[in-house]
Amino acid sequence: MLRKSNNFIVIIIITITAIGISACLHEEKDAAVEQASTAKHIQPKWIIPDSSELTGNDNDQLIKYGRALVVNTADYFGPKGSIAHVSNGMNCQNCHLNAGTKLFGNNFSLAASSYPRYKERSGAMETLVKKVEDCFERSMNGQEIDSNSREMKAFVAYLEWIGKNVRKGTKPEGSGIEELAFLDRPADTVRGRAVFVSKCERCHGKYGQGTINPGGRDYAYPPVWGEHSYNIGASIYRLSKFAGFIKNNMPFGSDHKHEQLTTEQAWDVAAFVNSRQHPYKNVTSDYPQLSSKPYDDPFGPYSDKLFSENQRKYGPFAPIKNHYPSPPVEAAK
Ligand code: HEC
Ligand code: HEC
Repeated sequence: MLRKSNNFIVIIIITITAIGISACLHEEKDAAVEQASTAKHIQPKWIIPDSSELTGNDNDQLIKYGRALVVNTADYFGPKGSIAHVSNGMNCQNCHLNAGTKLFGNNFSLAASSYPRYKERSGAMETLVKKVEDCFERSMNGQEIDSNSREMKAFVAYLEWIGKNVRKGTKPEGSGIEELAFLDRPADTVRGRAVFVSKCERCHGKYGQGTINPGGRDYAYPPVWGEHSYNIGASIYRLSKFAGFIKNNMPFGSDHKHEQLTTEQAWDVAAFVNSRQHPYKNVTSDYPQLSSKPYDDPFGPYSDKLFSENQRKYGPFAPIKNHYPSPPVEAAK
């Protein structure tokens, strides 16, 4: 009897200690979670360099030229360009708003600090030069420009200058494109068409063709599908990039504090626009390591047989993303 009650006490002591330890562990975990979320909230602010600091020296001239190339790309490289005819008539700024300085407007805050870096899409180290070439070939549905040209040096000088206040490894608030919450259903092209008609068509046109400026050199409203649009190898052809971009920026005049689309509308209209015809690009050599394909890469083959090409294009994306223990690093462009 005595023995029994001794055992009982021992068991109680063990239980109390176990509860104590597990409570401590929980506390530790909660503290870690809290720390992570505060870190998220105190993302550094992006201090955008002021162009009035640019004096007349050669490098400053190059930076200014780079900015002009980003803003008025078509004037130099479009179908009626003064230097070469190698791009589709769009400007870099059509997708990198305010010359790549707008918060959540697909800005260039990270370009300087994060290149050269390994890119999953090419399976190689990439420099900013390669990145700019990629944009010409995909987003601008064109050809590479001479990598030794003054123009390429100017693009790179501008990108390096605009991102110079960002420390390597940090990510300022509002950089790039926002990652939207996923829908728990596939994005819906039928609902998306209705959003397009009511909120996009007046500028981008009934056939997504955009509106060309008088003189025909560039667009007042750039095309969103059809032969003059970005091709299927462009990052904006991925649904998450398109939806995140327009949520904070379209209809034109919106920003992250004045959004005009709900998250659902953004995904649905993205599905509608990217289901329309876009120029072809051979993307079979992209992502040499199949397991590094982003969850919304719409072209197989994939490293798993669990999710169809259709689900990769339209979602639902959560099951795909959650399937990979460490989700593939985003492959920018
Ligand atoms: C008031 C006119 C207007 C409306 C409405 C509008 N846009 Fe735009 N959109 C623009 C302009 C102008 C640009 C280029 C911005 C620049 O160059 O600064 C643009 C750029 C874009 C781009 C990137 C460039 C391209 O053509 O691929 C996409 C994608 C886009 N808009 C999608 C949409 C969608 C989707 C809607 C509806 C939800 C929409 N826009 C509504 C004017 C508009
Ligand atoms: C049709 C839209 C579109 C056009 C036009 C476009 N881009 Fe992009 N660009 C993107 C998207 C989308 C990304 C990927 C952003 C991401 O992954 O979050 C990107 C990424 C980039 C990046 C990498 C940013 C980073 O932080 O990794 C650079 C640099 C860049 N573009 C430069 C250019 C230049 C220069 C031009 C013109 C020659 C151009 N882009 C034209 C859509 C476009």
